[in-house]
Amino acid sequence: MSDTKNKNRIHKDITASNLSLIRYFLQGSMRYFALSMLCACMVSLFDMLSPRIITFTVDSVIGTQAPDLPAPLLAFLDAHGGVQLLREQFGLIACAVIAVSLCAALFRYLFRWLNAYASERFVKRMRDELYAHIQKLPYKWHAENSTGDIIQRCTSDVESIKVFVSEQLTSLVRVIVLIVLAVFFMLRIHPFMTLLSSLFIPVVVGYSLYFHRKIGSAFELADTEEGRLSAIAQENLTGVRVVRAFGRERYERERFHTQNEKYTGYWIHLMKILTLNWVTGDVMTGVQNLLVVVLGAWFCVHGEITAGQFIAFVSYNAMLIWPVRSLGRVISELSKAGISLERLRYIMRAQPERDVPGALTPPMDRDIAFEHVSFSYENDGVRTPVLEDVTFTIPAGTTVGILGATGSGKSTLLYLLERLYALDAPSAEEATVEKTHGENSSAADSGGTRSGGRITIGGVDVRDIRASWLRTNIGMVLQEPFLFSRSLEENIRIAAEDADENEIRAASRIADLEETIDRFPQGYATFVGERGVTLSGGQKQRTAIAQMLIRRPPVMVFDDSLSAVDAETDARIRAQLRSSTGSSTVILVAHRVTTLMHADNILVLDHGRIAEQGTHKQLLARGGIYRRVHDLQLGAGAEAPSAQEPGTSAQTAEQQKGGPHEA
Ligand SMILES: Nc1ncnc2c1ncn2[C@@H]1O[C@H](COP(=O)(O)OP(=O)(O)O)[C@@H](O)[C@H]1O
Ligand SMILES: [Mg+2]
Repeated sequence: MSDTKNKNRIHKDITASNLSLIRYFLQGSMRYFALSMLCACMVSLFDMLSPRIITFTVDSVIGTQAPDLPAPLLAFLDAHGGVQLLREQFGLIACAVIAVSLCAALFRYLFRWLNAYASERFVKRMRDELYAHIQKLPYKWHAENSTGDIIQRCTSDVESIKVFVSEQLTSLVRVIVLIVLAVFFMLRIHPFMTLLSSLFIPVVVGYSLYFHRKIGSAFELADTEEGRLSAIAQENLTGVRVVRAFGRERYERERFHTQNEKYTGYWIHLMKILTLNWVTGDVMTGVQNLLVVVLGAWFCVHGEITAGQFIAFVSYNAMLIWPVRSLGRVISELSKAGISLERLRYIMRAQPERDVPGALTPPMDRDIAFEHVSFSYENDGVRTPVLEDVTFTIPAGTTVGILGATGSGKSTLLYLLERLYALDAPSAEEATVEKTHGENSSAADSGGTRSGGRITIGGVDVRDIRASWLRTNIGMVLQEPFLFSRSLEENIRIAAEDADENEIRAASRIADLEETIDRFPQGYATFVGERGVTLSGGQKQRTAIAQMLIRRPPVMVFDDSLSAVDAETDARIRAQLRSSTGSSTVILVAHRVTTLMHADNILVLDHGRIAEQGTHKQLLARGGIYRRVHDLQLGAGAEAPSAQEPGTSAQTAEQQKGGPHEA
């Protein structure tokens, strides 16, 4: 219990603010970043030494000024023959210059390497953490958030945070260190001239900051247009069949062309502004440089500074120009990282799906009971009531059929069973309260969501069962199954990796897939294209059935999973299933009466309520919805085919009527 609480607290802490989140991501790479910045400072320091050597050479070696060196260096020089030695051994100065450059190069190398290493560790940690977290998020969260958006956050936003830390933050530190060092050395030469030249720093930074803020929105606009352009391209590539089938190539080409034109226009406009900025910046720094040179020369002529100091001053000033000019851009881009971090925080803040402490793993081959189940979807405060007081029992090992119009809540019922969506108000006492089902009995305590009741398996509430246990033991075949772009065999064995070839064949045979696969030149090795595009809808559904059969879960759920196969195949698969599901409990959702008629019990769901239930015979005799659907699909007055021989007459009648009908 305390462990879960602890985890909760940590989770909350790291998403409390952008800063805490970035600190969390920086674990493990922080010290490498710190070391790399230290190296960057060393680079700046060594860069600063070259002008000092030049000053010394011009003033004291070529000229006759007293050497201006740190005391220990001066003592060392005096002990070895003073400046005179340098005048005779000129190579020594060259050696000093080379040594300083080599040191700078070494630290530059270390800086780059450490920075790259740290950034890659950092970005890897971000990706790992995000991916692991997203995997743990409940189905509900995935249903509410678009895949494209999540991917965008995990790629673009991660990338811009990486750039922020590894480039922008580093260069901010470097530039500040550089400015401080350069100003320090310049102050030693001539305070007044330093003051004059550094007056330009805030002006240039301010200008470029203003400018980058201004074009920030232009960049965003261009980004949006780029997004639209790639959306058009992507949609076209994905829907290439539709485009070809409807002869829409020309229309689509023109749509792309128009968007491309627009996007190009934005970029040309942007480049024009950017160029203007560079030119203006050039003029500003040119004027500043001119001022320093003219003033420096004047001071030099009037003996206030030496020739060597003049050269050094001009060098320091030149060193500052580029970093100062980039400062505005760096500062303006800092805010972008904030937006990206905010977007990642949205993901990290979402609560992972958790089992209750001490979740159970009870036997699942038991009776399944829905007790007064009511449920509403809740999206942005909009409540869609779906299920109303649904109560029924599926005795272990039996087959229940569910018939209902699209949107009547059939899939929702199954999601609740697998706890992909959770019912509110867990305790057993609540369930008794639910029984006195008034108009607003449970609305009061669950904040307006009329969601309540309970679902039990062998008497155990599904909320008390471990989610992974629940989902491995309840196999579900969806109406629109998802196949991975791998081979057919890999797809079939996805939930049972150790299945051997015989098991795969057996499962395929029951799913009526074996013959089809044997007709493929590459058989089981046939590659399933992106999202299964190389298979027909029916073949995909049958693959999904084989996928489940191979696991032989104690509860098997078919959510409209035979909708895309023809009636004859449907009958064949059902007959094979009946003889092979053994002791498994089966929940069969379908539109076709013929699919359901052999079930031990049939539920008719109408607008989220159970309208009728009973066996095929009982429901026919009742003369309600089931009877109407039956007559519609099989022809009025048609005698129900005997339960022992599925197929023939009923299917033929249905096929003549043009396939399955919606109830
Ligand atoms: N994630 C969701 N958010 C809001 N409403 C939903 C969601 N999923 C389904 N619904 C709505 O719930 C109702 C029942 O859906 P569903 O259970 O899928 O019906 P069925 O499987 O019978 O076709 C439909 O009206 C549908 O629009
Ligand atoms: Mg459905």
